[in-house]
Amino acid sequence: MTASYGSSSPESAATGARRPRVFVTRRLPGDALDRLAQYAQVDLWLGDGPPSSKQLVEHAAHAAGIICLLTDRIDAAVLDPAPGLRVISNVAVGYDNIDVAAAAARGIAVGNTPGVLTETTADLTFGLMLAVARRIAEADRFVRDGHWQTWDPNLLLGYDVHGATLGIVGFGKIGQAVARRAHGFGMRVLYANSTQTPAPAAGCDLAPLDELLRASDFISIHVPLTPRTGLMIGDREFRLMKRSAVIVNTARGGVIDHEALLRALHEGRIAGAGLDVTAVEPLPPGDPLFDAPNVVLLPHIGSASYETRARMASMAVDNCIAGLQGLALPHPVPAAG
Ligand code: GLV
Repeated sequence: MTASYGSSSPESAATGARRPRVFVTRRLPGDALDRLAQYAQVDLWLGDGPPSSKQLVEHAAHAAGIICLLTDRIDAAVLDPAPGLRVISNVAVGYDNIDVAAAAARGIAVGNTPGVLTETTADLTFGLMLAVARRIAEADRFVRDGHWQTWDPNLLLGYDVHGATLGIVGFGKIGQAVARRAHGFGMRVLYANSTQTPAPAAGCDLAPLDELLRASDFISIHVPLTPRTGLMIGDREFRLMKRSAVIVNTARGGVIDHEALLRALHEGRIAGAGLDVTAVEPLPPGDPLFDAPNVVLLPHIGSASYETRARMASMAVDNCIAGLQGLALPHPVPAAG
């Protein structure tokens, strides 16, 4: 299921030195792997899906570097049999799939791709808000299914986005990019941030989480998944929300308690949800979310524009090459702790 990418020679044509081996867990957009292949023997996973844990362990065991995705769990089980591993480069800004402390304890550098996907993910967040509030996916199905008979003043009514109050949970780069778009829609913006207080943003009001949940028409999740944020939106939080509230998640599915979300949707305690991410990805066939009312489901495509994904691949290759050369990574993940 793997192939050597680029030159199959283990030696560099220029120096004759043996090139380090890098396991890349999926084909990447753009030409970044061509650049990597000049430094390294690239062992490229060719499966349609991710390598299994066993396959990951087997390939990592011979690698000096791994370029991986958020679908690849990299923990002690992968690291222990890989004594030569020097760098793990995640093609994502989130890195909850990597045991950073375990890597640090073994002297392995870990990098990610922050910043480059901020605006693209913020665009999709707005797309989801509009899709749920204005019932865009449902309306598309309605037309395709041949139900549209005539213009009707009561047909597919939804909620206005313009002028509404948006509550942003997590005010990092992506949360702030969403706030900038919200101002263009004339929205009032509240934000909650539990880890640090960023510089006050013009036109955005810091609010305690509970107050934000009570006051917002739209709630958008932008916190990373950590032990602190896991399941932070549960029954209690849904009860605080307006019955007309729409929740949107383009961060990590594990931040929302899906059982509580299902109860809130079925009992009409909120108006709808737009989920680019879910606790389990992909959702298994028959998952109750498929039958929940007013939900728009996307397959984790927040950063999926041609340009952004190519730039992410390029940053991941930069991290990997630096790590192979024993240099500081240009985009290291924050130290564990
Ligand atoms: C995508 O979810 C990412 O973390 O980059």
